[in-house]
Order: sequence, then structure tokens, then C-alpha cells
Amino acid sequence: MSNAIVGLPVDFLLNSRVDRSRPYGGAELAVLGGKAYAEAKRIITSWPGYAPTPLLSLSGIAAGAGVGALYYKDEGPRFGLGSFKALGGAYAVNRLAHEWKLRDGRDPSQLTVTCATDGNHGRAVAWGAGQVGCKCVVFVHELVSAGRVAAMERYGAEVRRVPGNYDDAVHHAAAAAKKNGWIVVSDTSYAGYTEIPRQVMQGYSLLMDEALQHLPSADVPTHVFVQGGVGGLAAALAAYLWETCGADRPRVIVVEPDKADCLLRSCRAGGLQIVSGKLDTIMAGLACGEPSLIAWEMLHKAADAFMSIRDTDAVACMRLLAKPPAGDPCVVAGESGVAGLAGLLAVAGDQAIRAALGMDAASRVLVIGTEADTDPELYAELIGPSLAARVARKKSGDVAAAAN
Ligand SMILES: Cc1ncc(COP(=O)(O)O)c(C=O)c1O
Repeated sequence: MSNAIVGLPVDFLLNSRVDRSRPYGGAELAVLGGKAYAEAKRIITSWPGYAPTPLLSLSGIAAGAGVGALYYKDEGPRFGLGSFKALGGAYAVNRLAHEWKLRDGRDPSQLTVTCATDGNHGRAVAWGAGQVGCKCVVFVHELVSAGRVAAMERYGAEVRRVPGNYDDAVHHAAAAAKKNGWIVVSDTSYAGYTEIPRQVMQGYSLLMDEALQHLPSADVPTHVFVQGGVGGLAAALAAYLWETCGADRPRVIVVEPDKADCLLRSCRAGGLQIVSGKLDTIMAGLACGEPSLIAWEMLHKAADAFMSIRDTDAVACMRLLAKPPAGDPCVVAGESGVAGLAGLLAVAGDQAIRAALGMDAASRVLVIGTEADTDPELYAELIGPSLAARVARKKSGDVAAAAN
């Protein structure tokens, strides 16, 4: 089966360290799951405006990819923020404010949280800070678009632009926090800083819980393609599936941009690897060169494969979802949001990889649509004016129109 929509994977690697028969044990529970997840679920589902995000069936695209079913978890509507990130960053801020009150009896207005971001995590932290009434300072690197900065400012954050890439912005946030007594709410973990990112990841797990609840038990996916930046999302979802489904869990394939493939390189090297340089990819949310320490600790034993794709593959998938095959819904999906789908379509055309992944015409594939058009101007530019006009017409129309 070949498809002309995206190219074959730039790189692909099966993870030989995964032992699928091993139960989810104490070492894993110390990082994610169990009671800590139950608490995250209880709190996030109690927030005003909470609703599970849609799980869309894309049967036309599934047929083209030679698989039996394709489900797209559309995180665009998540709390009105446009991405899954609200589940993590805002949850961590909520917990911090709670502890601040409980332990120190202090008012959250005296608390300042800070983070580095490519856009979506900062938006989630800014929104979470607004919910609990604390201050928020966000650090962005050179390539973060003006549209994404403006969105964070709308949620009340002070945004500071710094030279370098995402990892440089992480270091700036850490230094500013140390100097000013702020608290870093990062989605990435490093030696000595793991507790807050762990809570961020705990929040992400709710997304997979919702997806499984949406499907009849006979329809549990056989494969999940999830995009990786620092690896927090992929690790949270892989851990959730391992804990919940055990040896019968779906195979998890982590998809990265070829310009920022730090997780794939870490798997190949058998230990955490850093990709340096500009990490110049349009998939801004995935432009990360340093894996998150605890995410990697989970992924190296929970992810079945790692692969990389090109920017052009992401754009092709944005366009495909904007104008899908007849019968599939039109989906507004941003450049990082489509990477999981691009990963599926890339391997769909490679017989050897299909065989290695046990993927065939009966497979049920879940991809995570992690963002909508979080930067609407860039979205319109990437899909082109005529498609953008078509999508705008669909958006302003009714649900029935969007299904055509
Ligand atoms: C839209 C989108 N998808 C996926 C990711 C990847 O998440 P992680 O960095 O936890 O791997 C990000 C991270 O910012 C993102 O913004």
C-alpha cells in the first residue's frame, strides 16, 4: 500500500528494550498512574467547562492508509485553549496554588509561576494562573510566532522573548525563577526537578482515559501514533496504556520532526541524547532538543518504536484534514497537531515497517490531534488561501456542513 500524501519515514527504529509481558510495576507507579492519576482526573474533570474532547472516526483516510479504522482524538476544543496542554500546565499550577494555601497559608496572588514555551504550554500555564489568581511570566525563543505570544498575553501572562532555541528559553526561566523566588512550572524534567513535570504528565493521561472510554471495549486501538517534543505526552499516554491494558496494550509509536529527533536518537544510543542547534522545524511544539528526564525513563521501556517525519509531511496532513476524503469530517489541525497522523501515513506505505509493527488491514489506529490552529495566521499561510477560505466557511457553517 503506498500513498502519495506524505513521504516514507525519514528514520524509524523499533525499541528492542520493551518487554510487553512485564506488568506495570512499582517503579512505574512511582512516576505515573495509580492514586496520583485518580486525583488528577478528579480535579480536572471538576473544573468549569470540562468536557471530554471529540474522538473522530476518519474512515476515508483509514482506507487510504490500508488500516481497518482510524480514530483522531481532537484536542482543539480542550478548555477553549486549542491544545491538550491545558490538561498538564494548568493542573500543575492548580496543585501549586493549593499547596501554597494549605502548607503556608499564603494567598495565591503572592505566587509567580514561570515557564519556557513554544506557545501551547505557556498558554496553559497562563490560563491556569488566571484560574487560581497567581502571576505568570513566560519565556519564549526567537522562532515563537507573534500570534502565539499574543494568545498568552491575552490570558494575562507577561511574555519575555530570549535568544536561542526552546532549551535556551528553559534555562532563562530557571535562572529568572532562582533570582526572583518564582516557581518554574515546566513540562520538561531534569536532574533535581521532576515533581512538577510529573504532575503535568499526570494531567495529560486523562486524554487517553477519555479516548478509551469513548470506544467500545472491542475497539481498543492496536496502534497509537503520538508526537514527541520533550516526550512528556508520549510517556504519559504510553504509561496509561501499559497500566490499563497490560500486555494487550496498543503499540505506541512516537513521531518527531527530523530536525528535532532527540527521543529517537536516545533510543538508538540506549541513553538520553541531546540535539542542539536551531531545531528549525515548523512543528513548533515539537522543536525540542532535550528529552524530559522522567519522560525518557518511561519511554525507553514503554514506547514500541520511534520515527521521524519532515515538515512537508505535516503540511500535507494539515491540508488533508482541511479537505478530507468524502465522508470524513473536516478538522482544523495545527502543524504539531498532525504529526501523529503524518507518522501513520508515512509507515502505511512501507511494507517492512508495517510488518514490524504488526499493522494490517484490520488494525485500529488512534492518532492524537494535539492542537488546532493555535496560530491562525500561520495555519492559513501553511494550508494556502483557497483551503483556508474553505475551512473558514466550514467553521462558520453547521456540523452537517463540516461533515461534507
Ligand atoms: C501541539 C503539541 N503537540 C505535542 C507536543 C509534545 O509534547 P511533549 O513536549 O510533552 O512531548 C507539544 C508540546 O509543546 C505541543 O504543543
